[in-house]
Amino acid sequence: MKDTQMDALFQEAQRAAAFAYAPYSNFHVGAALLAEDGTVFSGCNVENRSFGLTICAERNAVVQAVAHGKRSFTALAISTPDSAEPVGPCGACRQVLSEFMPPEAPVRFAGSGPNRVDTTMGELLPYDSLHDLTKG
Ligand code: THU
Repeated sequence: MKDTQMDALFQEAQRAAAFAYAPYSNFHVGAALLAEDGTVFSGCNVENRSFGLTICAERNAVVQAVAHGKRSFTALAISTPDSAEPVGPCGACRQVLSEFMPPEAPVRFAGSGPNRVDTTMGELLPYDSLHDLTKG
């Protein structure tokens, strides 16, 4: 994947972060998934006064995409503008993302500062039961 494509995907994540409903944490998160056919689906975190019901940006993006018939993603970008440093996806989101992304799929996350992390789904969730068990 070209760096410019990842830059564009990250911009979509930044746009989505602006829509976050985060009155309790004040921590806005945006995620953007690139589907195999080139379409992009984004999501933001949606909090709730019953804190445990909060939906993360990454899982929001996944359910948006699946609800539109997309189940295979080639890249993910995550924006956390309220932190200077990059913040990676939570464990629950890694598990859900791995259902629909191959281990080699690139993942980028960054905050508002200059640092960013460029990694892969497989690095975020190694020894993944789904991918390892289907290897044959
Ligand atoms: N959050 C996400 O949306 N994605 C992450 O990967 C980390 C955390 C949200 C959940 C909550 O609304 C806020 O960030 C603070 O944890």
